[in-house]
Amino acid sequence: MTQGARPTPARRTVLGAVGAAALGASAALSAAPTAQADDRRPGPGGDHGPGRGRGYRSLPVPTVIAHRGASGYRPEHTLGSYQLALDLGADVIEQDLVPTKDGHLVCRHENDITGTTDVADHPEFASRRTTKNVDGTTLTGWFTEDFTLAELKTLRAKERIPGTRQENTLYDRRWTVPTFEEVLRWAETEGRRRGREIWLHVETKHPTYFRGLGLGLEERLAVLLRRYGRHRADSPTFLQSFEPTSMRRMAKLVATPRVVLLWTPDDRPWDFRQSGDPRTVADLVTPEGLAWIASFAQGIGPLLDLVIPKDADGRLGEPTTLVRDAHARGLILHPYTHRNENAFLPADFRRGTDPAAYGDSFGALKRYLETGIDGIFSDNPDTALLAAADAGRR
Ligand code: G3P
Ligand code: CA
Repeated sequence: MTQGARPTPARRTVLGAVGAAALGASAALSAAPTAQADDRRPGPGGDHGPGRGRGYRSLPVPTVIAHRGASGYRPEHTLGSYQLALDLGADVIEQDLVPTKDGHLVCRHENDITGTTDVADHPEFASRRTTKNVDGTTLTGWFTEDFTLAELKTLRAKERIPGTRQENTLYDRRWTVPTFEEVLRWAETEGRRRGREIWLHVETKHPTYFRGLGLGLEERLAVLLRRYGRHRADSPTFLQSFEPTSMRRMAKLVATPRVVLLWTPDDRPWDFRQSGDPRTVADLVTPEGLAWIASFAQGIGPLLDLVIPKDADGRLGEPTTLVRDAHARGLILHPYTHRNENAFLPADFRRGTDPAAYGDSFGALKRYLETGIDGIFSDNPDTALLAAADAGRR
């Protein structure tokens, strides 16, 4: 990834494509969120929530976080992807959240649903195709905020990168776009069935952009977390965002643990751009920056390159001091994203020239896990679990 490029949502979205190229309301807000972030009051979900746990410090380390579910094997952010991740043994299942026009939170990596649903095949929605500026990037497509939940539910999910993950296309159109509340119910059911808590890692996507549309994410998310008993400091849930403001806002609403995501060193979070805060990720990974994050969050989610940078040839270099520096301030690290395919591996761990073929994923994971990270986001959670065992860390 180009370190000097201006960050955009599109650049994060097409991370895989870049690697491949290198190789070759109203209902949702029915309960007004008035509660502050304390974990003393029982929430309305107390009777049917996941119950009081022992908190994130009790999770196995390194914690394997299924990135958008088991997205290496199923279309991302579907109940099928989440179910497989759990069945494979992932410790935590990730959701990215965006809102619908009527204020429901749904699980998509971005509000542009062109690439991950069959919306283009629906003539009744052809006129909804439009061009927008999202966090400084011009995008043309179909967007969740232009669809009611009922309309969105007529669409079917599909594989984002069929050229790389042809096998996943077998499952195209099998599942709808899940609401976050459906995921919470699924987690309850699975928790009862397995007799344990089901951990989630929930990201607010484009929070400043959506607040500007009158579709603030945080209050809606807090309502659902309280309804399902995931609003406490020891709830089996992490919250995460690339915009620190979103995590600071969540800290005032619920006590659920929070993780600040960090992209490339030159990235200036979109909320900082909007508020005039001059800091970049390079500033946030300094001891002072980490101390500031620790004042409202429990962890950071850095790009893997911030843990072990790559050289000009894309090969892994020497680890930075980020693990040590973050731990010194009490912060855990959940870096992202591990994937098995050559297209996404460091150059020295690729095997052959086919971007879609698997490389030496275990070799790369060994290097990352040796740094002492507390967890890792992976599209292939079964691989990450085996690597953690190989490393003697599980
Ligand atoms: O949230 C951790 C990781 O998922 C961040 O990357 O772009 O896949 O949401 P992204
Ligand atoms: Ca994410």
